[in-house]
Amino acid sequence: MNKLPVIQAEPNAEAEPMQSPLHFAASLSPKRVYIDTFGCQMNIHDSQRMVSLMAGEGYAPTESPEEADLIILNSCSVREKAEQKVRTRAGQMKKIKKANEEVVLAIGGCVASQEGKRLLDRIPHADIVFGPDHLSRLPELVRNVRQERTRHNETRLMGRSTAFTFPKLTKEGPVEVSAFVSVMKGCDKFCTYCIVPYTRGREVSREADEILEEVRVLAERGTKEVVLLGQTVNSYGNRPQDGHMPFSDLLYRVAEVEGIERIRFTSPHPSDFSEAQIQAFAKIDKLCPHMHLPLQSGSTEVLAAMRRDYTREEYLAIVNRLREVAPQVALTTDIIVGFPGETRQAFEDTLSLMREVRFHGAFSFAYSERVGTKALEMSSVPVEERFDRLRELQALQDEITQERLNDAVGQRQTVLIEGLSKKDATRSTGRNGQNRPVHVAGTYEPGTVLQVDIVEAYKHSLLGVQAGTK
Ligand code: 5AD
Ligand code: SF4
Repeated sequence: MNKLPVIQAEPNAEAEPMQSPLHFAASLSPKRVYIDTFGCQMNIHDSQRMVSLMAGEGYAPTESPEEADLIILNSCSVREKAEQKVRTRAGQMKKIKKANEEVVLAIGGCVASQEGKRLLDRIPHADIVFGPDHLSRLPELVRNVRQERTRHNETRLMGRSTAFTFPKLTKEGPVEVSAFVSVMKGCDKFCTYCIVPYTRGREVSREADEILEEVRVLAERGTKEVVLLGQTVNSYGNRPQDGHMPFSDLLYRVAEVEGIERIRFTSPHPSDFSEAQIQAFAKIDKLCPHMHLPLQSGSTEVLAAMRRDYTREEYLAIVNRLREVAPQVALTTDIIVGFPGETRQAFEDTLSLMREVRFHGAFSFAYSERVGTKALEMSSVPVEERFDRLRELQALQDEITQERLNDAVGQRQTVLIEGLSKKDATRSTGRNGQNRPVHVAGTYEPGTVLQVDIVEAYKHSLLGVQAGTK
């Protein structure tokens, strides 16, 4: 355990979204970095940037924390469970640090941003606590720890006026068939349950030239699909004083980049939708027929208490307009159940909206209290009731998801191959335009675009054969 001086301590605010730890593959090199990623696509993207930044310093990725010289935990605090996970993981790293004092332990992401110095105090074996706004400084911080044995807290949020720069794509990054491209950061919405505006700070849109240059470089390297990323991605350019083009224009510009075959974006906010954004699904061939459009609740009263700025009817109006203009678009969503004040009737409003829309998929969560958010002051639904409702809602969605998957059997779909199937090396795996995983008999190079006849539906994915083969 090291007792090192804390420098540049700047305590501050709070956090951000979604699931499953991500690990990166190993290779032989003098120094190694291990990274655990919790949470949303933003965190996955940040982890990819961390790995490439450290590659520039001679660190190769490893899948084993025991053989790492640098361990990074990229945390999420959007719900209590996610937050708990990173604390447990940090505890597990203690014995590794005990065995080798040279190992550097860095905690990044939203828990880091939210807790700042408190986290450094509570985890004495951590060397660096850094927020998402300080990602670019990771190599320098690691060097400082190594050379001077200093501890660092870099969690100050960058405001709009301060010099936040989007981390640049580095030469060392791996070639990905599908790559994230950050187009904006932060969130100005302040939904009453959500910690993100406090951990990722105010909304900043990225310069279009910088975005397009990154997309061009990715295309030259072999990337076929770009996923434009932002907390409320379609609010890109909403602040005219910043001089950015509207989000729909950005989609057309990205589509002009040669070599890019598919464009996706995530996650849009219903309140930021425009007719031009909807039209883009009909007019831009490269724009995939899938949209993840967070609903959160089907009850107008609950939506108001959540401060979502749209009603049930307004949400449905977007869905209906989109289906008029581009009926092929698959919709997925996020839903929170058991939000403070959610009555049985309000919950049933959510179920009825789900039956009406028939989402292709949904991420659903029991409401989780977050310190510092407005909803914490509201009267709560008992925890048991929240989870009962969650189970009920998930059973309904499972049925709908299965029906949607079954509907795909017999269809001919375009699949972008991403690699070999993990379970069966005689099969390749990719995704269709609607973002559904599709397993295809046979081995194909990553990046191959195939016409596939769907022959079977599984629980979360599809099985197909290349069109013209039997
Ligand atoms: N409790 C439960 N779910 C939450 N989400 C965000 N904050 C909370 C919370 N406090 C969910 C929302 C969001 C997704 C990323 O996480 O549905 O869209
Ligand atoms: Fe959180 Fe709402 Fe912002 Fe999404 S829009 S990140 S739910 S505050």
